[in-house]
Amino acid sequence: MKLLKKLFLGLLLVLVIMQFFRPEKNSAQGDHLKVFIEETNPSVDIKLILEQSCYDCHSNNTQYPWYNDVAPISFWLAHHIKDGKKDLNFSEWDSYDAKKKDHKLEEVVEMVTDGEMPLNEYTWTHSSARLTEKQRNDLVVWAKTTRLLYQAKLLQE
Ligand code: HEC
Repeated sequence: MKLLKKLFLGLLLVLVIMQFFRPEKNSAQGDHLKVFIEETNPSVDIKLILEQSCYDCHSNNTQYPWYNDVAPISFWLAHHIKDGKKDLNFSEWDSYDAKKKDHKLEEVVEMVTDGEMPLNEYTWTHSSARLTEKQRNDLVVWAKTTRLLYQAKLLQE
């Protein structure tokens, strides 16, 4: 019993100390999505889907939930965001060439059709991020149509 108490206090201490460490926040200000929005020209509905379901992990600005202030959750979230942004970052759309943009949109079609995005871990806690059948279809149609824009560009090169 004494050992258990020590272990418990030790764990508590680790948790308390952990609260002093915070991962850097993903919170770019300004018009970081300008190029992406101008080029891909999403409708109001598509914009809303991207805002509610994708940008938290695929842009330079995350709307954090309150529990992000609690370590180690903050580190877990930071890791997810870093991973998501590494593969696809709408805020850095201008750094992708036409071929890469086309490919990323192809991935969007695949991921959304297969129901892999948005991640389940995310929709469990963000119910508004869950896509309805119609939203999923609209997003896929938008991504497919936008691919044509980049494919046309590639043909001109
Ligand atoms: C909770 C964070 C999170 C959310 C929300 C999220 N993603 Fe992701 N996404 C990731 C992570 C992490 C990866 C990379 C690892 C993986 O494939 O699971 C990824 C990978 C991807 C990829 C693959 C890119 C490549 O080149 O391989 C695409 C495309 C994608 N996401 C699209 C979307 C779209 C579209 C939405 C919104 C409908 C979305 N994601 C929402 C975290 C997220």
